[in-house]
Amino acid sequence: MYNRRIFMLGATATAAALGLAACGGEGAGSGGPDTDAAPSDQTVGVAMPTQTYERWVADGNNIKKGLEDKGFKVDMQYAEDDIPTQQQQIDQMVNSGVSVLLIASIDGASLSSQLDAAAAANIPVIAYDRLLTDSENVDFYVTFDNYKVGVNQANALMFGLGLLDEKFEAADDAPKGPLNVELFAGSLDDNNAHLFWQGAIDTLQPYFDDGTLVVLSEQTDIEQAATQRWEQETAQKRMENLLTTHYNGGEELAGVLSPADPLSRGIINALQNAGLGPTLEEGLPVVTGQDAEIASIKLIADGVQSSTIFKDTRTLADQAILSAESILKGEEPEANDTETYDNGVKVVPSYLLPIQMVLENNYQEIMVDSGYYTPEQVESGQL
Ligand code: BGC
Repeated sequence: MYNRRIFMLGATATAAALGLAACGGEGAGSGGPDTDAAPSDQTVGVAMPTQTYERWVADGNNIKKGLEDKGFKVDMQYAEDDIPTQQQQIDQMVNSGVSVLLIASIDGASLSSQLDAAAAANIPVIAYDRLLTDSENVDFYVTFDNYKVGVNQANALMFGLGLLDEKFEAADDAPKGPLNVELFAGSLDDNNAHLFWQGAIDTLQPYFDDGTLVVLSEQTDIEQAATQRWEQETAQKRMENLLTTHYNGGEELAGVLSPADPLSRGIINALQNAGLGPTLEEGLPVVTGQDAEIASIKLIADGVQSSTIFKDTRTLADQAILSAESILKGEEPEANDTETYDNGVKVVPSYLLPIQMVLENNYQEIMVDSGYYTPEQVESGQL
């Protein structure tokens, strides 16, 4: 039954891809795949959310270079986190007849009419890193293992608190607690934020249940912890408010679950401004992160931020390009998950890439020895 279901989902995806390919060139617009066309006759539309975040700049650069190296033309647009701008950009790509769309959305549910227009013009759509929701017109999804990101963030938090040892097993000399922690989540309109949160909460729950960890503010719902548009200042302000409201009588804050590096840096600013730290050794609470941004890798090297999660956007760009090429050839892109990503209308076949936890004891190996950042970049905290 289990395998059959996967097969059926796969078969549906094949039919969809082939159906789209077969219709290419005959439909309403001039867009969509043409299986006989050379790459140089095909334009890939790439819609990206914002350039304020380092990772999306890296994603865009990697995708553009990868596609151009293979001879494709690229129409890439950033929307600076403004939903109407992203809608217009995609409308324009559809009207100009791109062959395939790669979309990293701002709000995953806000592009239904653009996706309808793409489908009417036979243009296949690949959701890039963020799931496109509430639409049947999503052909494929490339991303990282988002639930595992949350699990690893929770494990990194507990490692930093001394609850887990280097093997991420219960530490022999673990503090009994209660240890106070506060929780932050990402933007609620980004499906990833929910998976990061779920992975983290599932992992932390036993420690809440037995009283080892306590959220003093009692803000334990994702709605209370959310950070609209993943903004650093919003996270900093919320941390400041939490400190003045709940930690003004000598209560000790041990750690903060932060879902992404810019938020982590806002949280760390708030903590340091309140006189904590400035380093972990000097009592700064343990703060997690995600994206291995250069400024945060410097903070990890300096013993300030406790951890981050490295998601190699070069591999994501490569996987997105491979998927686009398969679709353009009328083939089914390779999926390794056909169950997890239900977008409210259908389960979108997906390819999930692995992630890595980065700590003070391994940042050198993962981020520097691998050639991803130079020692000078880590030293300066800038690219
Ligand atoms: C991405 C994260 C990123 C966040 C904010 C999420 O969708 O998966 O890598 O930190 O958006 O840009």
